[in-house]
Amino acid sequence: MDFRAKREDFPTLRDENAPAYLDNACVTLRPDSVINAIHEYYTTGPGCGGRSVHRYGTKISQATSASRAKLGTFLNARSNNEVVFTRNATQSLNQVAHGMSWEKGDVVLTTDREHNSNLVPWLQLEQEQGIDHRVVASRPDNTFDLEAFEAACADAGSKLKMVSVSHVGNLDGICLPIKEVAKIAHDHGALICVDGAQSTPHMDVDVQDLDIDFMAFSIHKMCGPSGMGGLWGRYELLDNLRTIQAGGQTVQTSHYDSLEWAAPPARFEGGLGHFSGMMATGAAIDYLSALDMNAVQEQEIKLNRIMSKTVRGLDGVDIIGPEDAAQRGGICSILMHELPAHDIALLLDEAAGVMVRSGQHCVHSWFNNRGHLNGSLRASAYFYNTEEEAKLFADTFEEAVQAFS
Ligand SMILES: Cc1ncc(COP(=O)(O)O)c(C=O)c1O
Repeated sequence: MDFRAKREDFPTLRDENAPAYLDNACVTLRPDSVINAIHEYYTTGPGCGGRSVHRYGTKISQATSASRAKLGTFLNARSNNEVVFTRNATQSLNQVAHGMSWEKGDVVLTTDREHNSNLVPWLQLEQEQGIDHRVVASRPDNTFDLEAFEAACADAGSKLKMVSVSHVGNLDGICLPIKEVAKIAHDHGALICVDGAQSTPHMDVDVQDLDIDFMAFSIHKMCGPSGMGGLWGRYELLDNLRTIQAGGQTVQTSHYDSLEWAAPPARFEGGLGHFSGMMATGAAIDYLSALDMNAVQEQEIKLNRIMSKTVRGLDGVDIIGPEDAAQRGGICSILMHELPAHDIALLLDEAAGVMVRSGQHCVHSWFNNRGHLNGSLRASAYFYNTEEEAKLFADTFEEAVQAFS
């Protein structure tokens, strides 16, 4: 697949002074088709979907249904009604966590390298409702410890209610064997919720094949618009979930003293929707659907190998995760120890136009637990990045490390 040609689709990459944008784990760049879809909404029919029956309303209703159907196909959902539009993956995870009913002592298992969005909701439930949140430790190289996980499931016994894990970690790019994790969770009578924020943009994700119960994802990490995310859930589970955003759109009808909830997904989409975002989501999914996702993954690993090779040879820094870049996808996350991560990230941009992320990447718990308070510097590649950009990052990073050492 000629990914270099794809750069022409992205306004920021057509610019002759285009930066080497390597912060894709945070948010990806957007192609013309996505930007045009947003423009189209505001210029050709800025109405309200799902309610008004005039031409604007009907156009938006049809367009948002089409976007939902595209997402359903992309994830291989059983029905488009299993796809809920949300603001972001965080809202999706909160919808699952706060939409279920809990009893004191119910066990929820996560790993020790979760994004705050898949940690804080569970900590909140522990504080407020007395659930028992337990953390499964990873192996020393940060990879998932299936045996430790199975032992934790057995230890929780009949109290185990939910396993909630990231598919791919934003800290290190490590991918969990979700199919096996799901089987073990189900064998122990628990549900499994997968944080797919870092997997759905980068690989084929088939929710039926994975045999999971919920998946949260971020459209803005999938070439889509800001302010858009999604939740996929098994229909019968969604149908038993309490909405965390009750109001307009979420009921069939209401009386002064009672109501009838709407069926999913409407029950979870309270209030006026982000219609331009929903339309642009359809454009983003069209864009990704035309790519070979296996080739996307290979391209990212190829670029990561270039970055990792140089970084591995440097004193004073360490790559988080296994040596082999193939186990870290497009993410090269570098533990900075005594070096100033933010200063180096600023320098990379100012000196060479290389954009990366620095800090603790919303995985504070992992850094706090290990005393790595300086955080990491994370370069994250996507299909449109080039080998030249990966080399530019590696060379400039090497110079910066030497300058600050
Ligand atoms: C693994 C992971 N989970 C959750 C999130 C939160 O995503 P969102 O910003 O869409 O809420 C992120 C964002 O970086 C992430 O990388």
